Amino acid sequence: MDLAIETNGLTKKYGSLTAVNRLDLRVKRKTIHGFLGPNGAGKTTTIKILVGLLKPNEGTVRVLGQELHGDKTAGFLNSFYEQADSRLSIGYMPELPKFPKHLKGSELLDIYGQMYGMTQQHRNEQIPKLIELVGLKGRENDLIGKYSKGMQQRIGIAQTLLNNPELVILDEPSLGLDPVGMVEVREVVKEIAKEGRTVLVSSHLLFEVEQICTDVTIINRGTALVSDTLQRVSGLIEGPAMLHVEVAKTSDKIVNAVKKLPSVTSVVQTGNTLRIQMKTHEDTRAQVSQEITMSGGIIIGMSQKTSNLEDVFIQLIHKDQGEKPR
Ligand SMILES: Nc1ncnc2c1ncn2[C@@H]1O[C@H](COP(=O)(O)OP(=O)(O)OP(=O)(O)O)[C@@H](O)[C@H]1O
Ligand SMILES: [Mg+2]
Repeated sequence: MDLAIETNGLTKKYGSLTAVNRLDLRVKRKTIHGFLGPNGAGKTTTIKILVGLLKPNEGTVRVLGQELHGDKTAGFLNSFYEQADSRLSIGYMPELPKFPKHLKGSELLDIYGQMYGMTQQHRNEQIPKLIELVGLKGRENDLIGKYSKGMQQRIGIAQTLLNNPELVILDEPSLGLDPVGMVEVREVVKEIAKEGRTVLVSSHLLFEVEQICTDVTIINRGTALVSDTLQRVSGLIEGPAMLHVEVAKTSDKIVNAVKKLPSVTSVVQTGNTLRIQMKTHEDTRAQVSQEITMSGGIIIGMSQKTSNLEDVFIQLIHKDQGEKPR
C-alpha cells in the first residue's frame, strides 16, 4: 500500500498521562483521511508529532516515505522556514490558528511565501490562485482583523498550500465556525484534495468527516479504535435514525398517523416537536413529511439525527469488550 503517513506503536506521554498510546496510523496517498476523536483523544498531539513539533516517547513515524526519529524529528521543527529546501512537502494548519490582525490576507500569504523561499514572481503567480481557491477573491486586501472566523480559517488553509505540498494536515479546520462557515471550509478541503494531494483532517464531528473523507481513523484515549474506508466504517456504525420534526401545531391525529408508519418505532411529543425513532438508518423524511401534511400538520423544521461519536464509541467499545454499554 502506498502510504503518505505510517506510524507504528506511536506513544507520547505528558508526565504520567499517555496522550498517544501505541498508535498505528496509516494514511493512504491521495485520500482525504478523517482523524476523528472526542476532545482529549490525542489528535493534536499526534499531528504535532507528524509535523515535527513534538517528539514521541516511543514508536516510529514515516511521512511521505521518510522516517522521522531521534534528531531528524527536531529538524522538522523549523519546517516552516526550511520547507523550500526540504524533500518533504507538508502543509500544516494548527488548531485555531491566530494570524496578525493588522495584515491583509494577501500580505499574510506573501510573508509566508517569503519564508518558504518563494521568489516574488512565484508568489505573484501563486497567491491570487490560492485566494481564489479558498473563496476569498475580492477580500484579499481586507485586514485579517476584519475577517470572519471562517475566512481566517480559509486564509490559513491557503497558507498551507503555498509550497504546493503533497500532504496537507489540518487540525480541526472548522472548530468554532457557524454552519455556513463549516460548509465553506469543507468545500475548500474537498477542492485541495483534487490535485492528487493527501489530506489528513482532524475533527470531533462525525457528520463532518462523513461529508468529506474517503477514509477515517477513530481515535479514543490515544488509541485507534477503527481505521478503514469511510464506507466500511459507516457500515459499522449505522444504527436506527432519529427524526426531529417541528410542526406549527401538534394534534393527536398527526402523532397517531406518524406512529402508524411501518418504519417508525415510537413518537415522543415535546411541545410542538415530535421526536420520531425510526427502525432503520434510512432517510425517511419524505415519507414522514407526507404523512404529517396529509394529517393537516404544517412542518416548520425537520432534522435527521445522525449517529454521533458517542454512539459510535459505545457501539465500538461494546463490540470490543463484549459488554453491554452503560
Ligand atoms: N502540553 C500538554 N501538557 C500536558 N497534557 C497535555 C498537553 N497537551 C495535551 N495534553 C493532554 O493530552 C491529551 C490529548 O490531548 P490532545 O490535545 O492531543 O487531544 P485532541 O484530540 O486534540 O483534543 P481536542 O479535540 O480537545 O483538540 C489530553 O488529555 C490533554 O489534556
Ligand atoms: Mg486538538
